[in-house]
Amino acid sequence: MFIGTEKLTHTYMPGTPFANEALKEVTFDLSQGEFALIIGPSGSGKSTLIQHLNGLLKPSSGKVYFEGNTVGSNKAELFNLRKRVGLVFQMPEEHFFSETVYDEIAFAPRNLGFEESKVQVRVTEALEEVGLETRTLLNRHPFQLSSGQKRLVALASVLSLKPEVLILDEPTAGLDSSGRRNLYSLLTKLNRSKRLTVLICTHHLDEAAALADTVIVLQHGRLILKGAAKEIFSRREQLYQLGLGLPAVTEIMHGLSEGGMKVRTDIFDLEGARQEINKLKGRHVK
Ligand SMILES: Nc1ncnc2c1ncn2[C@@H]1O[C@H](COP(=O)(O)OP(=O)(O)OP(=O)(O)O)[C@@H](O)[C@H]1O
Ligand SMILES: [Mg+2]
Repeated sequence: MFIGTEKLTHTYMPGTPFANEALKEVTFDLSQGEFALIIGPSGSGKSTLIQHLNGLLKPSSGKVYFEGNTVGSNKAELFNLRKRVGLVFQMPEEHFFSETVYDEIAFAPRNLGFEESKVQVRVTEALEEVGLETRTLLNRHPFQLSSGQKRLVALASVLSLKPEVLILDEPTAGLDSSGRRNLYSLLTKLNRSKRLTVLICTHHLDEAAALADTVIVLQHGRLILKGAAKEIFSRREQLYQLGLGLPAVTEIMHGLSEGGMKVRTDIFDLEGARQEINKLKGRHVK
């Protein structure tokens, strides 16, 4: 087991009239290099779950594992975990607090006690990794950037620690379609070329579904499904009953199939759909 949980339960405000069991005996694991999605209705526990994976929340009962070891609660263990399991919050730019892009990204490596020369290397590498121009951006105020650039700076500030696991909460919220495509192609590159394990919570499947090896479904704090993306997205009715949809392109394939056309419905991206429809028509759709 690379990273995961065993019977993880989390109760917010325990022992008060507001006690809320947000996670109930959640057990799952991911292998190194896996690209996984967590989906589930609003309030199903997605954000609560991922905050346990880098030690921001403590289990009420059950365990969190990383590299086969139970994550403890002492400072040194948590420090080590947060270095290796990077978490990008939803709308991370709302948490920016530095005067320059450089300082924003430098915060985490400085916190690790690196010398400034090493911090500088980490900052530059992280910015290059997310495809941002270092020369012009480093001294800009983070709030002077576009939404897409801010999101990339937030990602760079986590990558500056060179984590092995990257967890993102609704990473495309508020981005336009080119920002969404750019972010997902970056995450795919990090996953494939660096073997970074990627775990994403999202309600938006259009860009993410085709990339995922594994999909985890939560409902009312319980893990109710986990499997290969093809297997999970073949459960159309069950997902509907949960208030979850399919990627738009998969819906179209279902529509064509129901209309009598012999097409596969396990298609999650436009390129797959184009190929499938081309086969059907014996001609090329551009
Ligand atoms: N800080 C908190 N204190 C108390 N209850 C909380 C807190 N954060 C979340 N909850 C509750 O825990 C449950 C799970 O919330 P969580 O934010 O994990 O859901 P989610 O699946 O991420 O939802 P969304 O899709 O809306 O982001 C909800 O009932 C929520 O109200
Ligand atoms: Mg959430």
